[in-house]
Amino acid sequence: MPSRKIILDEKIIPKQWYCILPDLPKPLPPTIEPETKAPGPGIVPKIFPKQILAQEMSTERWIDIPEEVRDIYRLWRPTPLFRAVGLEKALKTPAKIYYKYEGVSPPGSHKPNTAIPQAYYNMKEGVERLSTETGAGQWGSSIAFGAMMFGLKCTVYMVRVSYQQKPYRRSMMEAYGAKVYPSPSNQTESGRALLKEDANNSGSLGIAISEAIEDALAHNGVNYSIGSVFNHVLLHQTVIGLECKEQLEVAGDYPDVIYGCIGGGSSFSGLFWPFYHDKITGKAPKDVRFIATEATACPKVTKGEYTYDHGDTAKLTPLVPMHTIGHDFIPAPIHAGGLRYHGMAPIISSLVSQNKIQTKAYNQTEVFDAAKIFIQSEGIIPAPEPAHAIKGAVDEALRCKETGEEKVIVFLLCGHGYFDMKAYDDYLSGKLLPYEYPAEKVEESMRKLRKLYPWIDEVKKKFI
Ligand SMILES: Cc1ncc(COP(=O)(O)O)c(C=O)c1O
Repeated sequence: MPSRKIILDEKIIPKQWYCILPDLPKPLPPTIEPETKAPGPGIVPKIFPKQILAQEMSTERWIDIPEEVRDIYRLWRPTPLFRAVGLEKALKTPAKIYYKYEGVSPPGSHKPNTAIPQAYYNMKEGVERLSTETGAGQWGSSIAFGAMMFGLKCTVYMVRVSYQQKPYRRSMMEAYGAKVYPSPSNQTESGRALLKEDANNSGSLGIAISEAIEDALAHNGVNYSIGSVFNHVLLHQTVIGLECKEQLEVAGDYPDVIYGCIGGGSSFSGLFWPFYHDKITGKAPKDVRFIATEATACPKVTKGEYTYDHGDTAKLTPLVPMHTIGHDFIPAPIHAGGLRYHGMAPIISSLVSQNKIQTKAYNQTEVFDAAKIFIQSEGIIPAPEPAHAIKGAVDEALRCKETGEEKVIVFLLCGHGYFDMKAYDDYLSGKLLPYEYPAEKVEESMRKLRKLYPWIDEVKKKFI
């Protein structure tokens, strides 16, 4: 019998993060400031500490992880790698399936891998409070935890619909000492303006980001913190893939294919970047493929456009080169809260455009069907976000059953779903409906973007 769980001792916690920037096939396009229509960082230097800014543009491939950060990582790292023996049996597949499980962190997902270093660098530079946004609360609870570990205050703008639907994530943030506001809130100008238009505005991540940035810009000693999309966030997550490589080596396997879900792209990057490095340096024994899965309800990579767009609704950020379905996107109330952001990490967008990553979109019903097979064979209840990766892995394993291929499939189980039981309740009682964001809506947002910036295609042609 293969070993079900590969958990190695603390020695495998990486000492360095892997930065993909020097290894991209094409340099990353710059961000653009709409005022000048030229490359520039916009407000970015005003809201992050210097060390984070340096990591954002690093030309170094390997970046040391501070000992204080590794020490806190020790609370839950290394995370286990499981051989999904039960799932393989349930699917009757000749494939070998492994999953790396990040749900063992105190807040229950991969997000503290970056919350801890972000809080650490801010503390080092004398910042007193962090402001941030959260959708379903995974990121909010992680940064609340990170801030607490380094004695910082924390303010979280939580998308209003989640604030109402997920009271226990809010309680978790408050237990960690954070102050949580439903967004749009009356704490900021952008929030107040939206509430004046519609007192029942249910919010979006784009709106909550605007509020958190406005808070940081308006107050001394306050910095902004973000849970995905930015290069430094993806970088911090590479502890996942670096550990996973060591664990697979012990198991005597190497992946043929890697699956992850993409909200902003950080957890998937964390897993696959180290294998990408193997591939481009000729160290990978196989032609490993990387497959990113997203929600049909928020299909930025599969239906969106690779262009320049703002990262937030109030247009405070510079224009970012990314796949987008429009900064005015208001999500349908699907359960995978972490996949409901309108844009994608520029690094992932660039790699998708270079065909280095393949993409797939699934609707929430088929995703929960796959989660159910996983739960009933492996026992862990996954968060709805990584259930998208499970769906990809299950389909791949079923294809192997048809062809008889003994592929090694690795996926990232980036969080548990113990705060998402309402979603399971809806699914199990047949209330969950498949939903696809209409292509016409994306076209409408792109038309609005072009009306706002008639020069956008010129800039896109020049830099992307
Ligand atoms: C559990 C979980 N998985 C995945 C995501 C998606 O984000 P990313 O693509 O940056 O990993 C989130 C975001 O909130 C999340 O909470």
